Amino acid sequence: KKVVLAYSGGLDTSVILKWLITAYQCEVITVTADLGQPEDLSGVEEKALKTGASKAYVLDLREEMARDFVFPMMRGAARYENRYMLGTSIARPCITKALIDIARKEGADAIAHGATGKGNDQVRFEFSAKALAPEIRVIAPWREWDLMSRTALTAFAEKHGIFISSEAKRYSMDANMLHTSFEGSELENPGNAPHETCHDRCVPVEQAPDAPEIVEVGFEAGNPVSVNGEKMSPYTIISTLAELAGKHGIGRDDMVENRYVGMKCRGVYENPAGTLLFALHRDLEGICMDRELLGIRDMLAVPYSHAVYNGYWFSPEREAMQAFFDKSQETVTGTARAKLYKGGVWPLARTSPYSLFSEDLATFEGGDYDHKDAAGFIRLNGLRLGMYAAIKDKLGK
Ligand code: ARG
Ligand code: SIN
Repeated sequence: KKVVLAYSGGLDTSVILKWLITAYQCEVITVTADLGQPEDLSGVEEKALKTGASKAYVLDLREEMARDFVFPMMRGAARYENRYMLGTSIARPCITKALIDIARKEGADAIAHGATGKGNDQVRFEFSAKALAPEIRVIAPWREWDLMSRTALTAFAEKHGIFISSEAKRYSMDANMLHTSFEGSELENPGNAPHETCHDRCVPVEQAPDAPEIVEVGFEAGNPVSVNGEKMSPYTIISTLAELAGKHGIGRDDMVENRYVGMKCRGVYENPAGTLLFALHRDLEGICMDRELLGIRDMLAVPYSHAVYNGYWFSPEREAMQAFFDKSQETVTGTARAKLYKGGVWPLARTSPYSLFSEDLATFEGGDYDHKDAAGFIRLNGLRLGMYAAIKDKLGK
């Protein structure tokens, strides 16, 4: 028996690694995904092998995640419940794809993950696995073992000689190129403000520079392709903008959201690059996206965001909505410029070779527009409003 485990190198997944070997009498191969998280992954392979893994992969998935997961999601202008920019949600299908690739390569029977039985992540891992490889089993130790508390977990780690970092982590965190999330501790009461240490890549606005900074991003078919005129790879664009926006305190949110498994939960999120790109992309769409197309895209962005949040990345509905978004983005090419200042993104200018903006039409003088046409337009479109007034009279309202 062979199991491929999603391994971060932290306490929880180290305990899982040991536990799998004992409980399942299996060989464990670990996969650690480099998704651009700030952690140093240099010691992870050694730690996995020392803890008992037969093989340890550390995979650089940064460009793949940016190009095949983050950018498509941005083309759909997705935000869950109008706020959360889905930084954790979008990483899960990317990690699962890597786990399945390795499982196939190694001839493994199962994959395993370290998500708890109370959260969204288990659902995302397992739906993605089901869609990519229905024959491969998924093991979720958190739903099987009896290590139900931090104390039990630490005791297990001590018993098996697993290294426990002395700096106890205050929050349950998840990080990648896009975002850092914080949950747990004082955040579990939504009436509490976050502790002053609850930040990572966005400086508190009071500490943001007093001088504004101007940035220009170039887009092609809805994808960001350059920063201040310099062409960059997908991952490099995200990491460059994350640093720039984070320095100005852009991209922080503190919210209560609805988990797919039913409960509300409170999280603090920092997504500097995603927040900046969302604003610039939308601003560019203002000049080069047709009115009706934009309206339909925005309506679809809601079910799309639910599909991403709820773990249905590899689903027929997500793929079909994606096809619509990708078509809608054909003309979203050009540049958008904004000022970054104290947590805010202030659009300044935008240009596009496919601009639908017509100075000739917008101006008050002349152009290919006859003011008199508007009278008929208003008369016909207002016809039913007159009927409605008559009906209201009849109803006595
Ligand atoms: N609530 C967010 C989401 O569902 C963040 C989850 C954080 N996950 C974690 N393993 N710490 O996407
Ligand atoms: C977890 O429970 O493993 C993290 C939180 C979540 O998945 O929503």
